[in-house]
Amino acid sequence: MISVFGSDVGDAEIEAVSACMRSQWLGFGKNVESFENAFAERLGLASFAMVDSGSNALFLALHLMDLPRGSEVIVPAFTWVSCAQAVLLAGLKPVFCDVDLHTMNVRAGDVEACLSYNTSAIMVVHYAGLPVEMDEIQKLGLPILEDAAHAVDSRWRERACGSIGDVGIYSFDAVKNLTAGEGGGITAADPERIQRAKHLRYCGIGKSGFDTAADGAPNRWWEYAIREPFIKMLPTNLAAAIASVQLTRLNELQERRRAIWQRYDAELSDIDQIVLPAKAGPGDRHGLFTYCIRAEERDALAHALLEAGIYTTLRYHPLHLNELYGQTGRTLPNCERLNVEALSIPLHPRLSETDVEQIIAEIRRFYR
Ligand SMILES: Cc1ncc(COP(=O)(O)O)c(C=O)c1O
Repeated sequence: MISVFGSDVGDAEIEAVSACMRSQWLGFGKNVESFENAFAERLGLASFAMVDSGSNALFLALHLMDLPRGSEVIVPAFTWVSCAQAVLLAGLKPVFCDVDLHTMNVRAGDVEACLSYNTSAIMVVHYAGLPVEMDEIQKLGLPILEDAAHAVDSRWRERACGSIGDVGIYSFDAVKNLTAGEGGGITAADPERIQRAKHLRYCGIGKSGFDTAADGAPNRWWEYAIREPFIKMLPTNLAAAIASVQLTRLNELQERRRAIWQRYDAELSDIDQIVLPAKAGPGDRHGLFTYCIRAEERDALAHALLEAGIYTTLRYHPLHLNELYGQTGRTLPNCERLNVEALSIPLHPRLSETDVEQIIAEIRRFYR
């Protein structure tokens, strides 16, 4: 089966994990700090903290934003469930907005349609890695949480996606452009927020027992200052070891994705029944996470591809259609259209040329 997603880990990642295991230091440790520094440097971030997942980074971000309890956060409905779950779990209310049919990204007008006296923040998602047009959204004057889970290599007006709003998050899960197996990260315009994040991720503990001992409790080093209550979302040395190697390989991994992307663009563009993904604007850079087409007879195409051994998927079933959130009565026409037309076809660095040829051939055969 040709999979829609996949990672590419090689000898260097295996060696980094082995070295970590040989050191017997598997949990949180020095590898995390060196990954944090290298990641912040590559993206040009003021500050950055790694956590154990992008989903938890979203929850942490909302906590750091100190939004009034019960207030509304506007969330594009065409995104992964964690975006809404984090809002709910932070004691806030997600209000789902529509996205642009072509870019699949949220626009200022979509947000405006959902503003209320109770709106406290906007979540933007750089869907597939295509940078959101941030300036019009910034003009709305509300705090912005940027979900850059797909956008580790995306740039908007030369700035790293994730670093434009007030707080930004990244995901390093098993299928992302840069993987740690599982992992995530958070950045903020205000470095003090990231200092706080570093305490929060360890159950809100301000300092380790050894630091506390050094700082004034020499006889009772097992005591520690707890700054505020929080859950544990510490990343491991193992995950950071993988992520550090992936970061050094990011250009190579992105080049492979770009080559496949360009081949799809060139060889699928004459099929009238499908619409290819939007391109990044001049000066911007697409992060190339998922190649999402809009297709006539989408379900039949997905089934035909599956029969031919090619696994595709919809990223993502729009959130307002899910009963949990109690907004099923709302109409978000573009999200609903994407729900029946959108399809992510395989894109990852381990696809072979033969795989790509087969995918293109099967799509062409379907519409012949
Ligand atoms: C847009 C978006 N945000 C957040 C996440 C959560 O990231 P993680 O899987 O690392 O928890 C994902 C995961 O796919 C995502 O697609």
